[in-house]
Amino acid sequence: MRNKIGVGHASIGDLEKKYVNLALDAGRLSQGEFVYKFEKNFARLHDQRYGIACNSGTSALHVALEALKEKRSWKNGSEVIVPAITFIASSNACLHAGLHPVFVDVDPVSYNINPDLIEDAITDKTVAIMPVHTFGQPCEMDRIAQIARKHDLAIIEDCSEAHFATFNGRPVGSYGDVSAFSTYVAHTITTGVGGVITTNDPDLAEISRSLIAHGRACTCERCIASNPESVCKLRMETEIDRRFMMVRIGYSYRIGELEGALGLAQLENKDEIMKRRKWNAAFLTEGLSRFSDYLQLPEYPEYIDHSFMMYPLVIRQGCPVSRKEMVEYLERNNIESRPMLPLVNQPVYRNIFGDIEEQFSVAKWINDNGFYLGCHHGLEQDDLEFICDTFAALFKSTGY
Ligand SMILES: Cc1ncc(COP(=O)(O)O)c(C=O)c1O
Repeated sequence: MRNKIGVGHASIGDLEKKYVNLALDAGRLSQGEFVYKFEKNFARLHDQRYGIACNSGTSALHVALEALKEKRSWKNGSEVIVPAITFIASSNACLHAGLHPVFVDVDPVSYNINPDLIEDAITDKTVAIMPVHTFGQPCEMDRIAQIARKHDLAIIEDCSEAHFATFNGRPVGSYGDVSAFSTYVAHTITTGVGGVITTNDPDLAEISRSLIAHGRACTCERCIASNPESVCKLRMETEIDRRFMMVRIGYSYRIGELEGALGLAQLENKDEIMKRRKWNAAFLTEGLSRFSDYLQLPEYPEYIDHSFMMYPLVIRQGCPVSRKEMVEYLERNNIESRPMLPLVNQPVYRNIFGDIEEQFSVAKWINDNGFYLGCHHGLEQDDLEFICDTFAALFKSTGY
């Protein structure tokens, strides 16, 4: 039996090992130079001035929302517009921050929030829109930015699945007031577990840094670093050392040097990773296009640079094989798949919001018929050929 063709992959090469070993040899495990370099490079690659590394994409979203809430004086219960298809962490983060997620149906081709439906969901309580760039495909950011401007709403981009993807030549994460990324293991760039907040706004950056570190008054690099030669001048100006003066209810959401070292090395390989993912997606699309009467393959406009964190497929009407039969067949052939981010039908949300799935016809269609395969840089051509051959064998068995 061949090895499992999984949905995610982390490539740990010589550079990752070298940097992690350097971090270990330096003897500093908490936040330090590797974390700062990783944050700066990650932010720069998304055209942003500030990067704040967190211990998950969920904590990045949570803190980004709380930073906006503090800066813009949002009340508890203010509404944030989120898509009806996304990983549950996007809307959970709103709930964590005392905000109310309002779901909007998605587009049937991009699977991202449908900009035509956003304005209908805006009420006098709406404070922000959270576009989520699912599966590596950027949302229609020009339209969303225009709606946000018109209604004076903040934008918080959830870029967890779309590192380095671009819309009209601009990277995701550069449209929002603040953006959040996950660097969990299956994501394009990984730190094992982790996430990053990016922004150009110095206030949001400062509040976020404080929030991830227990609400400290000062979180500047020179305060945090233990190098006595670089001690921040402001540190002892207050009655207690500013590092230990807490000015807001914060969290413990930081990463350490081992994650920073891993992330920094991964960033140096990002072009290779991206090239390989796009090549894999093009190979699958070519190989599966003869089944496009049965399977909806990824389609996207030329002004988008897709980062293909996954390869999404939706079974079309008239296909002789159900999703259950298809994913079980793939599984028996050692090809892993996952549901396409069902959200509004999750048991926990049914308890909170009621039976709302019927209100989102496209999301329901995706929930019932969608699944995704891996598209990652660990896949070989042989794996991709095997995926296409497996679909061919399945359809052949139905007389196609
Ligand atoms: C769209 C989206 N948002 C948020 C997250 C949460 O990230 P994490 O698992 O790092 O908390 C994920 C994780 O997969 C995601 O896909």
